[in-house]
Amino acid sequence: MPGLPELNLILLGPPGSGKGTQGERLQEDFRLPYYATGDILRAAVKEGTEIGKQAKEYMDRGDLAPDEVIIGVIAERLQQEEAADGFILDGFPRTVPQAEALEAKMGELHREMTAALLIEVPEEEIVRRLGGRRTCEENPSHIYHVDFDPPKKEGVCDIDGGRLIVREDDKPEVIKNRLAQYREKTEPLVDYYEDRGILNRVDGGKPPDEVEERIHAIIATLRREEEEGM
Ligand code: AP5
Repeated sequence: MPGLPELNLILLGPPGSGKGTQGERLQEDFRLPYYATGDILRAAVKEGTEIGKQAKEYMDRGDLAPDEVIIGVIAERLQQEEAADGFILDGFPRTVPQAEALEAKMGELHREMTAALLIEVPEEEIVRRLGGRRTCEENPSHIYHVDFDPPKKEGVCDIDGGRLIVREDDKPEVIKNRLAQYREKTEPLVDYYEDRGILNRVDGGKPPDEVEERIHAIIATLRREEEEGM
């Protein structure tokens, strides 16, 4: 978006809150690169790269991959030309050390984060959502839900015809551990970004279009404030 200040966004929230669903929309709406660490790691596992090998056992259990594995992956992307006007981060940072590493990297690049968008959803809704989620095997950012957002043809991605699969970590016992990991390691980031004055809360219990509208409204307000020099 020429002429507009850069837009550097973090999508924060528990597993299944709709970060991927909104990330897919926002990257189209704002024409920004979208970096989802879960998708990046799953692709690395599929390709059998060194990072994939290191991350797989953690992911299958619903634990977080080690900070040092994931920090390098994101730092490298932020320096790319495509991220010069802004970027959307989904699933990163997920621990305080990751947030500190991001802040240090942004400082090095003389840039700042615009907003951390916290998508809030009650736990019983999360379990319902993850239990019915289907993900495209070809492109994991194409996400469906058997009840809330079904594909036109069962088991087939509307966008590229890929096979729809159930993610390994969407099994009930793994979901439970992912939620525990979120509470313990990621929730402290709510205070972290509140302290820095960039936390914006979004009611993720609303339908996807309404969640998207709310995010647009937040971004419009931030841009207005920036123009007015607040
Ligand atoms: P990751 O892939 O990031 O998983 P997650 O954070 O657990 O998030 P999800 O992808 O499960 O959910 P989402 O919020 O994107 O929801 P979605 O839009 O799909 O990470 C996976 C693993 O990778 C981690 O456990 C860890 O091991 C590793 N990892 C990743 N990043 C890491 C990091 N930084 N450090 C260390 N390890 C890391 O929606 C869910 C479902 O709900 C879908 O079916 C969707 O259709 C439906 N839905 C969405 N919005 C709505 C709505 N508003 N109403 C009704 N249904 C909706």
